[in-house]
Amino acid sequence: MRNLSRITIGLAGAILGVCLGVANSGWAGNVGRVSFSEDVFPILQYRCLECHKAGAPGVAFSGLNLESYEGLMKGTRYGPVVVPGNAMVSNLNVLVEGRAGIRMPHNRKRLTPCEIDILRNWVNQGAKND
Ligand code: HEC
Repeated sequence: MRNLSRITIGLAGAILGVCLGVANSGWAGNVGRVSFSEDVFPILQYRCLECHKAGAPGVAFSGLNLESYEGLMKGTRYGPVVVPGNAMVSNLNVLVEGRAGIRMPHNRKRLTPCEIDILRNWVNQGAKND
């Protein structure tokens, strides 16, 4: 049931083209330009910084500090989590989309379909600091 309702919500969002008009999933062929400072960073601030800022557990365990663009692009102590232009292989997207054994935000409510789309479109558009 939980899965079903999530899929229904995602489809409704895609069909209605919601997501504030910036970033629907793209199968309508009309993905708006996504900006790091206006679209991506607010999501990181609200959903990730609790753990991914200096002194917090996400940084202690992985080294990933999401307080800045530079921190996001530097990635974890094992390497980058963003491959510009390729959200399929970027760990940032893999984890928030639930495509791996662990999911982010860790032990918190998952991102909304719109937030997931924004992160995916931003990476696919080249992960620019704009
Ligand atoms: C409640 C705390 C918490 C929140 C909120 C959180 N994280 Fe994490 N994150 C962690 C911890 C702890 C780790 C280390 C996990 C491990 O190494 O097992 C981690 C690791 C990661 C990693 C690296 C995983 C790897 O491959 O080593 C990524 C990428 C990541 N988080 C992204 C995010 C994003 C993006 C958000 C927000 C959408 C987020 N996290 C929110 C706690 C959190």
